[in-house]
Order: sequence, then structure tokens, then C-alpha cells
Amino acid sequence: MTSITTHELLIEPDERGIAFSAKLLQTGQLLAFPTETVYGLGANALNAEAVLDIFRAKGRPLTDPLIVHVPDSSASYRLIDITPEEKIVYDTLANAFWPGPLTMIVKASQLIPPTVTANTGFVGIRCPNHPLANKLLLAAGVPVAAPSANRFGHVSPTRAYHVLDDLAEKGVRVLNGESALVSSDSSCEFGIESTVLKVDGNTNQLLIYRQGAVTEDELEDALTKSNIHWKIITVNRTVKMHGNGKDEENKSKAVTEATEVGEEAPGQAITHYSPDISCYILKSFAEKSDISSTDTLSFDSAYLAQRVILLDYGQEHVAYREKVFKYRDLSEEKNASEAARNLFDVLRWAESVEGAEVVLIADVKEISGQLLKKDISLGVADRLFRAASGTIVNVCIDR
Ligand code: TXA
Ligand code: MG
Repeated sequence: MTSITTHELLIEPDERGIAFSAKLLQTGQLLAFPTETVYGLGANALNAEAVLDIFRAKGRPLTDPLIVHVPDSSASYRLIDITPEEKIVYDTLANAFWPGPLTMIVKASQLIPPTVTANTGFVGIRCPNHPLANKLLLAAGVPVAAPSANRFGHVSPTRAYHVLDDLAEKGVRVLNGESALVSSDSSCEFGIESTVLKVDGNTNQLLIYRQGAVTEDELEDALTKSNIHWKIITVNRTVKMHGNGKDEENKSKAVTEATEVGEEAPGQAITHYSPDISCYILKSFAEKSDISSTDTLSFDSAYLAQRVILLDYGQEHVAYREKVFKYRDLSEEKNASEAARNLFDVLRWAESVEGAEVVLIADVKEISGQLLKKDISLGVADRLFRAASGTIVNVCIDR
């Protein structure tokens, strides 16, 4: 524990603050910083002891590899060990999407400590597009390993106070992306994490491990423009949790299924975005007479009115607005980018509502009907599915 107060952990992003933040990283300390996706919990990626502190602070298992952040692609070359064919694809995607929300997994060079790669020998590289992150990376002059700055398994942070809520007790300092010194729309503008893919020269494939702000359509476009004929494969993983994932025992019971690729995406297999409250994806509200299946939850109307939060999308369930305890819409206009920006803040809000016990979340994938469009709604649906531990229900209201 530290005697520093929560407020004192915030660093103002003026020149002095950036220099101080860079110094923290250079001297092997932790620093949380904003990116265009979510806040990261950073440490010098070349300092194995500092990297270990990331795992300790988050309570993250050492089997889950970290992404390394660089100011530009040229700063990444000494960190990676790729074939000429892979380099063509790597550079093509770097040119198309960096700085920006894309993480590329490739073979790591000897410089990267095994803790960063979780002994896989592969490292995720990302060049963030956020003015403070960029200033920080340049000032620090070291590659920065950074997972999302939340306690392990919890909702990712898109505000400095989200980070403090989870990690102030560990004494983690935070470069404040919501400071009055910076424009208010500059922090975490995408709101969900980067797209993670592996550049695999053995099979000439891009393997998408995590859906994010860069969409499959955009990736395909970039390859086509450069006349690269690699296949893009989405690695589908579902995570089933028993209970709401609140306690350690439940977490250890997480059941995972993988398709297409075995144990190559260790983090994805256990990643979830669990608020500290029971969450379910809502298929539909049903009348009592309609229920037969086991995937139906029954609530009486008083419970609904006093304990149940409804997170809607595109006003799909607005008819129930007055019947539930609290109602919010991730995007009334059914705008997936807006939903992505709101997502983690709303999940954190939901878990903090006094008296609430259940969160019903609209089925973004179904409602958006954009399965074929492969836009950011896929990333949003993925995060919500995981927040709900993969549980999809009908809800029956007993009158
Ligand atoms: O947008 C983002 O990517 C944010 C910001 C801070 O950059 N970072 C982030 O990191 O989301 P994290 O650790 O919370 O999620 C990274 C995911 C994890 O599921 C991890 O397992 C996977 O990417 N990953 C990272 N390196 C990997 C590797 N070498 N092989 C397989 N999966 C990897
Ligand atoms: Mg994370």
C-alpha cells in the first residue's frame, strides 16, 4: 500500500507530466496511460522485472501474453523476427492502420523477455493513435508492454477514474486523458480494444484472435490493394462461465472452446469483461405461456422494477423502459461506433447501481443484422457476449 491519495496518482498531461511519466517507465515503474481504444497499464517491455509487476498489479496469469506498444513501425523491427514474406504483410498493414487500433502478433526477437510473450515466443506489436500515448512513447524511448489497465477479468477502462477504481490500491499512477488540458473527445475514442491478429507466414493467413476497431473488411481491402492473397481467418472462441464470474472459484471453472486454432491465443480463451453483477444477453421478453426452454429467466414485475437493469441497443426493447429498474441505450441510433464508445463505461455504471442485481443486455449482433458487414458491431457483440459469460436468455415476466 501507498500513502499517496487517489487524486495524487493522477498525472496532468503537460510537459512536466509527460516527462515524469516517461521517467516512471524508464526506471522500471508502472504507468497507466490513455490510448484510442482503452487505457493501458504500461511498463518497459525490455525490463522483465517491471513487466512482472504488470501481472502482479492486475492479478493476471503469467500465461496471458502482453502487447508491446511502439511509436512507429520502425521502432518495432528490433523487437521482432519475421520472414521477408511476413514483413511485406506486416509493413502493408502497418502502413494502412498505424498509428491505430491494430495489434499484429509475430515471432519475437531475443530482446523481448519471455514473460511478455508468456513463453510463446510470439509478441503482439501495436502503435497507438492517441496524442498522449504517442508523446509518452517518444519521450520514454523504450517499447512499452501494456494490457488493458483493469484488474484481471474485469471491465476494460476508458476513463482515468476507471483505472483508479481498479488499481489505485496498487499505487498505479495514471496519465490523465480526461484532463482539462486536452480536448475532451481525444480519450479512448474507439472504446473497445484493438483488433488482434497473427501474421502467419507458414500458412499465408491472417488469424484474427480478437475483433476490434479495425474490421475484417478493412483488412481485406488493405491486402487487396497491395496485391497480397493471404486468407483472413477468424478464430472463434466462446467462453462459458458458471455463475457471474465474480469470485475466483467461478473464474477457474471457465470452460473454453476453440475452433480453427488450438492453444495459440491463450489470453482470448479466458478473457472476459465481467462486471461485478450477473449479466445476460437478452433474446426476447416472453409471456409466461410461451416458456418451455431452459434458457428462460422468470422475474415478477416487482423484481424487474427494483433489481433489473436493461441495456438496450437501437431502442429494441424501449417498450420495457418503464418496467425495469434502470434503462440505458448503448446507441439509440443503432450506431455501432457510438455503442463501442459507451460500452465499458455503461457496464461499469451498471455494476455500481445500488440495489441492482441483474443486467439484461440487448443482443447487438441480432439487432444490428450486420453480421455480413463485419463492422465494429462484431467487436461490441463479442465484448457483451463475454460480459454475459456467453449466456443468452429469454425473459418471462410473471404478472
Ligand atoms: O487496445 C488494446 O489492445 C489495449 C491497449 C492498451 O493497447 N490493450 C489490450 O491488451 O487490450 P490486453 O492484454 O488486455 O489484451 C490483449 C489480448 C489478450 O487477450 C492477449 O492474450 C492477446 O491479446 N495477445 C497478446 N499477445 C499475444 C500473443 N503473443 N499471442 C497470442 N495472443 C496474444
Ligand atoms: Mg484486457
